[in-house]
Amino acid sequence: MNVPLLDLVAQYRDIKDELLEAVMTVIERQGFIMGPEVGQLEAAVAALSRTKHAIGCASGTDALLLPLKALDLKPGDEVITTPFTFFATAGAIHNAGGTPVFVDIDPATFNIVPAAVEAAITPRTRAILPVHLFGQMAAMEALVPLAQRHGVALIEDAAQSIGARRKVDGAWRVAGELGTVGTLSFFPSKNIGAFGDAGMIVTQDDRLAERLRRLRLHGGARQYYHDEVGFNSRLDTLHAAVLLAKLPHLADWSAARARNAAAYTEAFAGHADICPPRTDPANEHIFNQYTIRVPRRDELQAHLKSKQIGSSIYYPLSLHLQPCFAYLEYRAGSLPVSEAASAQVISLPVYPELSVEQQQAVIDAVLEFYA
Ligand SMILES: Cc1ncc(COP(=O)(O)O)c(C=O)c1O
Repeated sequence: MNVPLLDLVAQYRDIKDELLEAVMTVIERQGFIMGPEVGQLEAAVAALSRTKHAIGCASGTDALLLPLKALDLKPGDEVITTPFTFFATAGAIHNAGGTPVFVDIDPATFNIVPAAVEAAITPRTRAILPVHLFGQMAAMEALVPLAQRHGVALIEDAAQSIGARRKVDGAWRVAGELGTVGTLSFFPSKNIGAFGDAGMIVTQDDRLAERLRRLRLHGGARQYYHDEVGFNSRLDTLHAAVLLAKLPHLADWSAARARNAAAYTEAFAGHADICPPRTDPANEHIFNQYTIRVPRRDELQAHLKSKQIGSSIYYPLSLHLQPCFAYLEYRAGSLPVSEAASAQVISLPVYPELSVEQQQAVIDAVLEFYA
């Protein structure tokens, strides 16, 4: 049975009429830049994230880059982050003029360890950049006071975790709500994806929001007048229309992903070779990815491929060992938990439209391999 890692065609078929109507409205109007849908989407995402502001931009990468630029980093300024994430997290730090400082992750959740962050803080630290990886939030109850105590920014990379929640000091908090900023990606494979690249920044801070709005528009609040050098990083109106049409479905889609994840975890429970992902009890996980740890990972992937089952390795090489960061002088063994994860992880199809039969085919194939 053919089971892709993600089936966007199935999603499109389910809501085709809504999507086409939204797109056609923009096309008929021929207003593609900063049309009303952009502001409507920003308002809706701010409400979802429980923030005062949401600022659309061109991608999840730019959603990181713009607030990092707003820190006005000087050479040698440091931003502490995780090595076990998509490249953009650290690439944005570098491109904003900062030095990425990598600290190790928790083996159970794959998220950054606050004690390791604290140990890495120096007088040059300007920001802490946790990633809410695969759909569950990092330990914000520790990271927020840590950032406050040291007077540094807290940038939540919530690219994979829109709408994810965590109980922080007894209250549910949404990804992006507590940090200086939260950053979102609408890359097509995210829980809510555009028809291409798009991103958003959320924040409670009025002045920062104003600056970010300028930075995405070549650094000028007024057209043709530039207070600083910014970027062309608008969120296209067509994408905003698509995302507005998809947004009412997001909660159901994320719930379906969580149900699929629970079915896998039940099927793999107690198996000696298969380590299912752990949801921190404080978290409501939205399962952008369902990622297990296994021995003989590459052989399992080949086995799945032979059965037409899609899978992916997020992420095969920790960022501290990437050739482009050789100048940071990390070595193999510097961050062993992240390195072990890179060797063992494999993500399985968990998308909302996955049928019971398809999921059973994935489960059977995995169990058969380790039988
Ligand atoms: C954790 C993380 N950060 C940043 C990004 C960058 O987002 P984008 O691809 O929209 O630029 C992604 C997704 O691709 C991501 O998964």
